[in-house]
Amino acid sequence: MDYITLSNGVKMPILGYGVYQVTKDECERCVLDALKVGYRLIDTAQSYFNEEEVGNAIAKSGVPRKEIFLTTKVWVEHYGYEETKKSVYDSLKKLKTDYIDLMLLHQPFSDYYGAWRALEDLYKEGVLKAIGVSNFYPDRLVDIANFAEIVPMVNQVETHVLNQQTEAKKWMDKYKVQIEAWAPFGEGRGGLFENPVLVKIGEKYGKTSAQVMLRWNIQRGVIVLPKSTHIERMEQNLNVFDFTLTNQDMAEIAALDTQTSSFFSHYDPAMVEWFAKMVEERKQQHDSSKEKKNW
Ligand SMILES: NC(=O)c1ccc[n+]([C@@H]2O[C@H](COP(=O)([O-])OP(=O)(O)OC[C@H]3O[C@@H](n4cnc5c(N)ncnc54)[C@H](OP(=O)(O)O)[C@@H]3O)[C@@H](O)[C@H]2O)c1
Repeated sequence: MDYITLSNGVKMPILGYGVYQVTKDECERCVLDALKVGYRLIDTAQSYFNEEEVGNAIAKSGVPRKEIFLTTKVWVEHYGYEETKKSVYDSLKKLKTDYIDLMLLHQPFSDYYGAWRALEDLYKEGVLKAIGVSNFYPDRLVDIANFAEIVPMVNQVETHVLNQQTEAKKWMDKYKVQIEAWAPFGEGRGGLFENPVLVKIGEKYGKTSAQVMLRWNIQRGVIVLPKSTHIERMEQNLNVFDFTLTNQDMAEIAALDTQTSSFFSHYDPAMVEWFAKMVEERKQQHDSSKEKKNW
């Protein structure tokens, strides 16, 4: 495993296991499998509703807590200073730990400044070893990097062969913010696993297109978080440290960039409305379940 040193000196594995869309039923088994085959970075979020299962797996794994780099993310519903603090303590409880290696703000919407100040304070207290953001595109990232007390150490954004984030990465490099790729396979959209350029490059090294995609990002200095519920694929995705892509390979892959999201644009106002609606709906569900409990 290779490591990256963040701007505050914390060391972070360059490859980790992500549990988005891993169901509650499967999550404990998946994280146990991932730790067994050698992953040491686990990426979850309050909004994935599986922090508890991640915590169970870590507790059962026998791997010392200090060897695991654990990331989770504050969801928008919990933004604002007090709410964010509360939500971090809730995450710690679910994850069965007294510190988090990296805590991110999940989205650049609503009161993310209040939320950030809470993370800054918890970082100073040592509860959070590093703090960062996610889905902060250059305008939002440069804003927080200039106006907040602490510059985020990481920015987790959609980054894969079809959406390479070359321009956004320049801004992150300028502020020493480490880029981390979510959906490093673009979830296979746009036929990425079958892409003939990636398949052909992989054949030279006896590697799959998936391994080429991960290796390419690692060689660009991007942390990757492949997700799979299959142990054989988890192993395959980890097995990317025994070959090196040439400059020619890197250039051929760079030429595949469409500079377009395979999911949605954070600049689209309709998408911001969609997020706001989702946050409101979840709040209402949460409030009504609290009322039910009170009865
Ligand atoms: N911050 C954010 O807003 C955000 C958003 C999305 C994701 N993320 C993070 O990024 C992580 C990864 O993103 P993602 O899960 O959306 O997508 P992804 O890792 O790009 O793709 C996952 C898909 O690829 C398949 N797959 C995995 N390895 C494979 C292989 N070697 N060969 C063929 N298929 C393979 C998986 O199938 P199987 O599972 O069936 O093997 C799954 O369908 C998440 O788990 C999460 O931690 C963060």
